[in-house]
Amino acid sequence: MTDKTAIKDKFIKAFDPMVNDLLDVLKQYNISPEATEWFKINLYHNTVGGKLNRGLSVIDTYQILTGKEELTEEEYMKAAVLGWSIELLQGFFLVADDIMDASKTRRGQPCWYLVPKVGMIAINDAFMLETAIYVLLKKHFKGESYYVDLLELFHEVTFQTELGQLLDLITAPEDEIDLSKFSLQKHSFIVIYKTAYYSFYLPVALAMYMAGVSSEADLKQAHDVLIPLGEYFQIQDDYLDCYGDPEFIGKIGTDILDNKCSWLVNTALKKVTAEQRKVLDDNYGQKNNECEAKVKALYKDLELEKDYLAYEEDVVGRIKQLIEDVDESRGFKREVLTAFLSKIYKRAK
Ligand code: IPE
Ligand code: IPE
Ligand code: MN
Ligand code: MN
Repeated sequence: MTDKTAIKDKFIKAFDPMVNDLLDVLKQYNISPEATEWFKINLYHNTVGGKLNRGLSVIDTYQILTGKEELTEEEYMKAAVLGWSIELLQGFFLVADDIMDASKTRRGQPCWYLVPKVGMIAINDAFMLETAIYVLLKKHFKGESYYVDLLELFHEVTFQTELGQLLDLITAPEDEIDLSKFSLQKHSFIVIYKTAYYSFYLPVALAMYMAGVSSEADLKQAHDVLIPLGEYFQIQDDYLDCYGDPEFIGKIGTDILDNKCSWLVNTALKKVTAEQRKVLDDNYGQKNNECEAKVKALYKDLELEKDYLAYEEDVVGRIKQLIEDVDESRGFKREVLTAFLSKIYKRAK
């Protein structure tokens, strides 16, 4: 077993006692065995199965900030509770996102709302994944001086993500295709809100509170690198939506069908001839596989893969420079950021 699988396995095992904590609450409320079983399946189905980058990063960051090679069992569990809390938040967003984007598969399985007998109960299931976070935080952190900081951070980041999702959705109306409304600037704004805060800033900031390396100045330093890093991650996601291997990434792209203000369409818009622009105008955002294929063929003609590779080299250079400029004198460490960057550089999943 590689180191990486062992680390992931340990983290996955740590989820079981948290699920038990949650089910205990249902027991106290006298909730029926049927509903308890439903909640349990919801919890496992929608949190386990992804890369777990966000959750694992809480533990990695805590370890780097404290300089400890081994964490005590208690420390590990606390960091794991924070990690699983983000994975619950991720589950909550993804269950809802798949309904809103009419996606078909997630993590190599049918989307939760498409599972027989689930349907629109998935909406309530999403809410319950979110509120499970606060049950776990209360149980494990109520006595800590930074408990309110954790709560405020989760609430603020959730709000930011929901604003990002709102922008993502209203910039992609189903019945009014108008590519002149898109721009890379709009794209950047949307993806910072919908992805960067909860996927990059949140795991690091949580670990910083737990490690006591949480001065405003250090939180700002973390923020100022993690937000561009998160923007880069979502641009990878946009790229993989069209160019990734659906088998390998476990989801089928929907951005062209859904009229999304994706990095690819914005990059295409900068390069098209008048003739090619017409192909885009006529075929983008049509709920039709032939139209989607025409857009993909145009992307190929435009050699967007080359633009993506150039973007990647450029942004990684800029992020490395930002990391170099970090001031470690108050306790924050550059390694937190380099570890995160190396996790996503050139990712194909
Ligand atoms: C998917 O996130 C949603 C985005 C913000 C792009 P991930 O690609 O991290 O998905 P999982 O959790 O590994 O499945
Ligand atoms: C999702 O972005 C962001 C959140 C879930 C908050 P996408 O809509 O691009 O996610 P995928 O590609 O379906 O994973
Ligand atoms: Mn979406
Ligand atoms: Mn996507």
